[in-house]
Amino acid sequence: MRLNDPKLRAAIAELGVEYQPDVSFAGKTSLGIGGTSDLLLIRKHASLPELIHLLDNAGVPHRFLGGGTNVLLPDGDLPWVVLQLARHKEDAVIEGNSVHVDCSADLGRTVTYCAKHDLGGMEGLIGVPGSVGGALRMNAGAYGTQIGPFVREVEVYRAATGRIETLRGSEINFEYRHTSFAPDDIMLAVRLELPSKPYREILQGIRICNEKRRSSQPLNQKSAGCIFKNPPGGSAGRMIDEMGLKGYGVGDARVSDRHANFFVNAGHASAADMLALISYVRGRVREMYGVELEEEVIVWK
Ligand code: EPU
Repeated sequence: MRLNDPKLRAAIAELGVEYQPDVSFAGKTSLGIGGTSDLLLIRKHASLPELIHLLDNAGVPHRFLGGGTNVLLPDGDLPWVVLQLARHKEDAVIEGNSVHVDCSADLGRTVTYCAKHDLGGMEGLIGVPGSVGGALRMNAGAYGTQIGPFVREVEVYRAATGRIETLRGSEINFEYRHTSFAPDDIMLAVRLELPSKPYREILQGIRICNEKRRSSQPLNQKSAGCIFKNPPGGSAGRMIDEMGLKGYGVGDARVSDRHANFFVNAGHASAADMLALISYVRGRVREMYGVELEEEVIVWK
């Protein structure tokens, strides 16, 4: 989608929002899939309510993109203008056991930064790709650790009120790969509370998690991590593997040879290829196990 109205573009520029025309989102997602659209890069959180107000008034459809690591975008000309938070150099501030982090910050770098200040607990999250905001929205987790329990306060733009609000951690419901945030809430900043732990000890935990991940996940291929959530008490990866579907593909979209719940873009996969593969595998699991798998990856439609 193109922002063709010069008056609207001027008003957006006045808010300090950076306009990037005709961006290819294949280059901005870990799956390497996605069409083109204009991108609005938000430098100051405070400009968001006015920006969205302007777009809504002008009837311009918009979507917010986080780190791009757990999302499947359509091909071609996207029917939305895309909003994204700009990354800042200094995105985390530590005060005692409290860490105030911008949601555009990289999750892995945040874990390492906190470790260097002897703050631990998040070791399991080290290899989870993506931004702090994305991790927060879906309560990302790995190796027994989820981000939710560390959250004390969240600064969020609520589409329902059109305002930036601060929520206490206790007001948010964190479940397995799910939170009580509304789909159109935009995570802006978070305050985490982390336990004190010596750097060396944290580093040891980080190394173990990295090793486990390297041995079981296709880290050097384009993917969005696990495609499906695990069903209660089960493992999507194990079921897909048991059916002999590793390596199965539609176009260049493939079930990874390494971990069957990772679907990789092995070349020039389109969104249509990936969606067809998701639908095929879901159908096979339904037939074989009577289980309806739910996507973990967020599909823009
Ligand atoms: N398994 C297979 N074949 C496979 C993959 C897995 O038999 O191809 C078996 C494993 O041997 C193991 C079981 O399935 O016995 C579970 O596998 P794994 O330990 O890899 O964990 P997972 O449940 O598949 C979850 C998260 C991952 C996270 C890992 C490590 C989900 C959907 N996935 O995977 O998170 O990294 O645990 O904690 O909850 C993600 O969310 O995108 C993600 C990658």
